[in-house]
Amino acid sequence: MATAVHGKTILLIIGGGIAAFKALELVRELRRAGAHVLPVLTENGARFVTPLSLGALAGEKVRSSLWDLEDEAAMGHIQLSRAADLIVVCPATADLLARAATGQANDLASTILLATDTPVLMVPAMNVRMWLHPATQRNLATLRGDGVTVMTPDEGEMACGEFGPGRLPEVPAIMAAIAAQFGDKPLAGRHALVTAGPTHEPIDPVRFIGNHSSGKQGFAIAAALAGLGAKVTLVAGPVHLPTPVGVSRIDVITARDMAAACEAALPADIAVMVAAVADWHVATAGQKLKKGGGAPPALTMVENPDILAGIGHHAQRPALVVGFAAETEDLLANAAAKRARKGADWIVANDVSQGVFGADATHVHFVSAAGPEDWGASPKQAVAERLAKRIADHFSP
Ligand code: CTP
Repeated sequence: MATAVHGKTILLIIGGGIAAFKALELVRELRRAGAHVLPVLTENGARFVTPLSLGALAGEKVRSSLWDLEDEAAMGHIQLSRAADLIVVCPATADLLARAATGQANDLASTILLATDTPVLMVPAMNVRMWLHPATQRNLATLRGDGVTVMTPDEGEMACGEFGPGRLPEVPAIMAAIAAQFGDKPLAGRHALVTAGPTHEPIDPVRFIGNHSSGKQGFAIAAALAGLGAKVTLVAGPVHLPTPVGVSRIDVITARDMAAACEAALPADIAVMVAAVADWHVATAGQKLKKGGGAPPALTMVENPDILAGIGHHAQRPALVVGFAAETEDLLANAAAKRARKGADWIVANDVSQGVFGADATHVHFVSAAGPEDWGASPKQAVAERLAKRIADHFSP
């Protein structure tokens, strides 16, 4: 993927946050991949990263001020804003996001962002409260509406000691997002609907029935499809994963919510149903169940809608319907039967007796009308990329 940046010029704006030091690693990776980096350091960025180390790693002069006459004589800020193939803001602080969203031009970085006509990728990093604040969320929506790609920060422990979303994504994820900006877009103009993660079915207001699905495979597929240019709607069960770049996410809890969200997302050209949907819900989930000394409560289970089968036989059936099969025995026979029963074109069959849930690696068989193909053991990321490529080839062989 990273080779997509070879020979490209990246204008890298480094904002003032504790994550700024990671931008140095990004510069190194970009140059290793053959990109030319034009570094712009904000005044506050310079409190975390020295122009000397940044300039040395980039092999370029670091620009910081609108008022540097020497720079303006060589390349004015308007010209600079157009000199790159891509502008990356990393870290994009809450302040930079706000200034970009409101079109301010009060320093070199914000002026470049206002004057440019090249694509912009923002990589936010900030305190969790700042990230979740409605003002920041409003700014994000504005920027995305303006066509700016904004990555979702990682979740975890932060430098300030708090926990939650706000950490700078890891450098390989940033590199992948940058590469995706330059890749082929064979799925441009196609709408893909993807389900991912588990569902939770309430037993009562405090308990639920769930499963071990991590959502990793479905999120990776959504990311890969978006990377190929598809408009992706990701209907996600309860998981703590960042939303992939360029993906519209709808969070749901139960199978019935997931079915309704999928129905509302139609029409679509592609459906990839990866979620581990609960087959049943509990009939009455009104009051908290009490021990009360008697016999344990009997739960009455009611069958959930089969979302894949519903989509596979829908009046507005997407042109390509892909299901997953989680099996513990007779993998290929069960997958072929599921393919026919649910009206899917393809089934990606997973042997879940071997600890696939939550893991990063898997071993799948791809089952189509032509029969099964063994895709061997590979990371979920690789399965996602291979499947997305196969989907793209299906539409433009
Ligand atoms: N699926 C779905 N809605 C359901 C159940 C499953 O959309 N209510 C989808 C899954 O997302 C997956 C496929 O159907 O793409 C197969 O899921 P799996 O759990 O393997 O099969 P089930 O239909 O649940 O059948 P069984 O549990 O009998 O193996």
